[in-house]
Amino acid sequence: MNDPHVHRSLQEAKVPRHVAFIMDGNGRWAKNRGLPRSFGHASGAKRVRSVVEHAIDRGIPFVTLFAFSSENWRRPMEEVSTLMSLFVLYLEKEVKDMNSNGVRLKVIGDLSRFDARLQKLIAQAEAVTAHHTRVTLTVAANFGGRWDLVQAMGRWQAAHEGAPATDMTEAALQPFFSMAYAPDPDLLVRTGGESRVSNFLLWQMAYTEMYFTDVLWPDFTPDEFDRALAWFVETDRRFGGVSQKVSD
Ligand code: FPP
Repeated sequence: MNDPHVHRSLQEAKVPRHVAFIMDGNGRWAKNRGLPRSFGHASGAKRVRSVVEHAIDRGIPFVTLFAFSSENWRRPMEEVSTLMSLFVLYLEKEVKDMNSNGVRLKVIGDLSRFDARLQKLIAQAEAVTAHHTRVTLTVAANFGGRWDLVQAMGRWQAAHEGAPATDMTEAALQPFFSMAYAPDPDLLVRTGGESRVSNFLLWQMAYTEMYFTDVLWPDFTPDEFDRALAWFVETDRRFGGVSQKVSD
């Protein structure tokens, strides 16, 4: 993007620490080309690489992708298995490059429903990239925000047997969420024209700025990413308080 104002702002300060993506529009991208939906997902999986590389270029340390929601099991079996195969392929192909680019991979969600091979690949990929610090790439797979809340409360209770429910404060619960290792997202980007959160990171997005674009995920180029960052630069985050400009 060539807007000098945006360039300056991004360089100077207002780079989000954590950007989360809902990668929507793969199916329509394929349909527009008269191709089966699986081509759209394959194209979407390829897009992930340029997005992560661009996040590195822009100095964004946390990137989170909604790859497969708890609700996606309702899709036709064939499509579910395409998505699973793409995930396997992605892990097999990309881990080497993640290692050379300083990418730490994390996968969040209820992984127990995935087949044993995929679970093993995930565990291996997380282990071999665990020491990296440049960017943390989190892939949310069989993830739902409500599931995360319930599992966090369950784990809190198991760790505090017999404690009264009033001990379960926001701060006490925080370490039990799937993304306890990351700051809350500053920016959510949803491609594909819908304006909803779709049971993604519900707890963590209490103060997240939300950017919705009609661009379909396979078309979400680095320039489009910069457009979202430019929009973020212009937002005035008050976290329930008053604007800096007013309070100064
Ligand atoms: C939504 O498009 C997209 C998904 C349900 C899956 C996203 C998955 C990938 C991009 C590939 C795998 C991910 C990784 C990290 C390798 P849609 O099918 O709902 O599109 P539509 O709304 O146009 O039908």
